[in-house]
Amino acid sequence: MTFNPYEEKGIALEKQIRNWNDITGSPFNKNDVDCYSRTRQILMNGIEVEAWNFKHAFSRFCPDNDDCKIIAQSRRIEDEQQTTINWLAPKDQSVLETTLGYEQVAVDLTAWLAQNEPDEYVKETFDFGLLEDFDHLYRYAQWAYMEEGIDPNYIVQGQTDIMLSRPTQNHHNDNAMRLRKPYDKDKTKPQTKINILTLVSGEQQTHNYYAEHGFSYGNNVLRKTYAEIKDVEEEHVTMYESLIDPNESIYEKLLLHEFCEVCNYYNCYIDEIDEKIKKIWELFLNYEIEHLHIAAKMYKKYEKKDPEEITGDKIILPCRFMNQKEYVSKILINEIDKRMDGSEKMGYTTLDKLPDNWASYDVQKKQGEKGAPSENTTRIITLHKGRDIIIADKTLEDKETELLQKGLEKKVQAPDTVSAQELEKIIANYDSKMK
Ligand SMILES: [Fe+2]
Ligand SMILES: [Fe+2]
Ligand SMILES: [Fe+2]
Ligand SMILES: [Fe+2]
Repeated sequence: MTFNPYEEKGIALEKQIRNWNDITGSPFNKNDVDCYSRTRQILMNGIEVEAWNFKHAFSRFCPDNDDCKIIAQSRRIEDEQQTTINWLAPKDQSVLETTLGYEQVAVDLTAWLAQNEPDEYVKETFDFGLLEDFDHLYRYAQWAYMEEGIDPNYIVQGQTDIMLSRPTQNHHNDNAMRLRKPYDKDKTKPQTKINILTLVSGEQQTHNYYAEHGFSYGNNVLRKTYAEIKDVEEEHVTMYESLIDPNESIYEKLLLHEFCEVCNYYNCYIDEIDEKIKKIWELFLNYEIEHLHIAAKMYKKYEKKDPEEITGDKIILPCRFMNQKEYVSKILINEIDKRMDGSEKMGYTTLDKLPDNWASYDVQKKQGEKGAPSENTTRIITLHKGRDIIIADKTLEDKETELLQKGLEKKVQAPDTVSAQELEKIIANYDSKMK
């Protein structure tokens, strides 16, 4: 790929202010939007929230008034970009429909990143998180049907499976155990840095969306399900952000943030099929090129080094959305029983090897003492429909109880846990009625 953002012109910062018509734009039609245009819209909103947030943190640590001035100006642009992107969502797209979009982002983005990740440990961490978001998609899919009568395929459009995964009640860990080993900033490839930053932004926004919207349903079990999954997203932000080297200076981090935005907009621009949305990605790519130039100038001034030593001179594709069913089912089948090992190595193990004093047991015991909403979800959908909703090919669907048997912790379980044996009976009962 020949695109080098350092050689592109971009749009001058003073020309990036727009009027309210342009800032707010007009929403897409939820009935004809491509699911991957929606996932790009969801992700890029998260990227802009992170850009805005980071620049506020930057200013709180920045002693140079001239730097603060230029950051204040570009921060407003990040914020206006966020409005444009988030306001693309139409008012008739419900919270649950949007939620399915968020989890589709998490699944298909993480799968893409894992397969394009040069660092083995980072890849393993991506695969670990992937299975958790895959289970969230399954739990929310049940609610979309029960609460609003939505076929989840209406949102995921056949591109992403809906299938039970590592059960959500097992995602709750001692939050310190979630911390991973950070990469070494001097030895790590730009691809790894951009992959992580992209995923942190997506997970952070997912957390924020559940925090701001999860209470908006009257159904108490659904409210609790949002609270439970929001808590896992907090763990995901903790996990992925801890992979970042804390020794990067604030100027290096600024440079990486702007480069991350450039790469994501570029990727969105080349992949987008909706002409109207594509124009937004193109415009914002040009804004970000200028932001990158500003960050590169600051980096040179303070670090006296060439910014391309950090970012490289090649564009990275951190968000190519495509069907990842094959990859996801491979990880699901092989790694559903994987757990954080809680050791000094900050590695992984399987649940049969967990010690009795594994720190996450205490968290799971307390949080689930009065039941796990995610388990209750399966019980309630059984009352509604006879069994849970699965959308996957027959070979994978037939593995559901076997996977649950392999992936569910036996030692600590919420009182309303649906065991593999019980699920088997539910399915057999359903099948006999359907004959
Ligand atoms: Fe931005
Ligand atoms: Fe999730
Ligand atoms: Fe997540
Ligand atoms: Fe930016």
